[in-house]
Amino acid sequence: SQRKFFVGGNFKMNGSIKSIKEIIERLNAANLSDTVEVVVAPPAIYLLQVQALLKAPAQVSAQNAFSETSGAFTGEISPSQLKDANIHWVILGHSERRSLFGDTDKLVSEKVKAALEAQLGVIACIGETLEQREKGITTQTVESQLEAIANVVSEDRWKDIVIAYEPVWAIGTGKVATVEQAQEVHADIRQWLEKKVSKEVAETTRIIYGGSVSGKNCGELATAPDIDGFLVGGASLKPEFIDICKIKA
Ligand code: G3H
Repeated sequence: SQRKFFVGGNFKMNGSIKSIKEIIERLNAANLSDTVEVVVAPPAIYLLQVQALLKAPAQVSAQNAFSETSGAFTGEISPSQLKDANIHWVILGHSERRSLFGDTDKLVSEKVKAALEAQLGVIACIGETLEQREKGITTQTVESQLEAIANVVSEDRWKDIVIAYEPVWAIGTGKVATVEQAQEVHADIRQWLEKKVSKEVAETTRIIYGGSVSGKNCGELATAPDIDGFLVGGASLKPEFIDICKIKA
């Protein structure tokens, strides 16, 4: 595949100075190959600590950023501030941001636009709820989330986007999507890209899966032709994260 396998570790609101240091030391000792792109996203307060400690080829990501560059936005961090701190990635549109913190499709697209303008890479998250899947509107849901994002990405910037498909019902539940379920949506996303953007963008954009990925289930998921990596939550805090990073290396 012309797509480099991508493994993201989203620590969410977990960890401490001590535990995150241990996680990063474990990654540093893992001898990661540069045939896989590994990007870890600690809580904002630990970004600088991780940036200072983490060894290449692994990279650091923020879990969120705002759509403005600076100003009276208490509690927010801007994409250019991330860039200033040598953080080159940001996760945007995560389902927890969407459901708990009011990140609508519109706000997510504004954030993606601002992040790209600041030259960040974006891990853009989309995915349906259980209710939407049961109603049979998975494709429709995922495509409309994707469209909101795609609207602000010019063709030459798709190289800076990684799409994370995360079915909400699989996040933090231990209920991982089957390979067939994930592959079906990933293939649909790729077809959508081909139809709405270009064949080249469809062929080169990484589409990664998130939702209860573990050291045990990642091997089978990684065999699917359109799964180009993972966005790992809970397991990214554990030693098995190394196994996930090495599954295709
Ligand atoms: O960003 C990561 C996802 O929300 C998956 O989380 O692996 O704990 O299910 P999880």
